[in-house]
Amino acid sequence: MERLQKVLAHAGVASRRHCEELIIQGNVQVNGIVVRELGTRVDPQVDRITVHGRPIRIEQHVYLMLYKPTGVITSVTDPRGRRVVTDLLKGIKERVYPVGRLDYDTSGLLLLTNDGELANRLAHPSYEIDKVYRAWVRGVPSQDKVKRLATGIQLEDGMTSPGEARLLKTAPGRDKSLVELTIHEGRNRQVRRMCDAIGHPVITLERIRLGFLTLEGLQPGQFRPLTSGEVEKLRQGLVQNRKSRPRTR
Ligand code: URA
Repeated sequence: MERLQKVLAHAGVASRRHCEELIIQGNVQVNGIVVRELGTRVDPQVDRITVHGRPIRIEQHVYLMLYKPTGVITSVTDPRGRRVVTDLLKGIKERVYPVGRLDYDTSGLLLLTNDGELANRLAHPSYEIDKVYRAWVRGVPSQDKVKRLATGIQLEDGMTSPGEARLLKTAPGRDKSLVELTIHEGRNRQVRRMCDAIGHPVITLERIRLGFLTLEGLQPGQFRPLTSGEVEKLRQGLVQNRKSRPRTR
């Protein structure tokens, strides 16, 4: 739910200030009823909103999953002209924004949407969605070090919260190993810093899963819309998390 004047301004009706005047003067109706109260909350995807009797144009919500390749910035613009993730979304006219971020040199699953409310809630630390990464790291980490990755690592911005970690395989020359890490936070370069801290720097990093969402069927650079069932499941996850974790951080 959003404030009516914000929805009107966002739909290109007029400036926020002018939209407020339109509301006060009784020119705006919600579901056939004149609304003069500033700050009335509406759901632009559900409520029928008219100005001077004409329906406003609302952008439909779009939810996309992108298999981000390396060498692309998780942003919608780059002052230095480098490729950004939205350059890959051919045929998508809506202005979508990434949910969280993956480093320039990280590949993997990235969600993008123009549903600001869902995006904010997904990115909030209280929504403890599994973020599963596969990292090729230098050398062969001991079982003890792998355990430390799971239980918590002291980084300069604090201790990482508990997750999971396992060693999947080691290359024949023992110069590198594949580690799978599940974390629930989204700190800047977190996995790289965790692996640095145990003395096994990341060579390549990919996010392979986000909650119940996987990259199945996508190649790097490809994207697909989420199904309505998947969007619903993400929403339900938000509600369940709130119920089971009343003390959100
Ligand atoms: N952790 C990192 O270090 N980088 C990413 O892109 C994501 C998680």
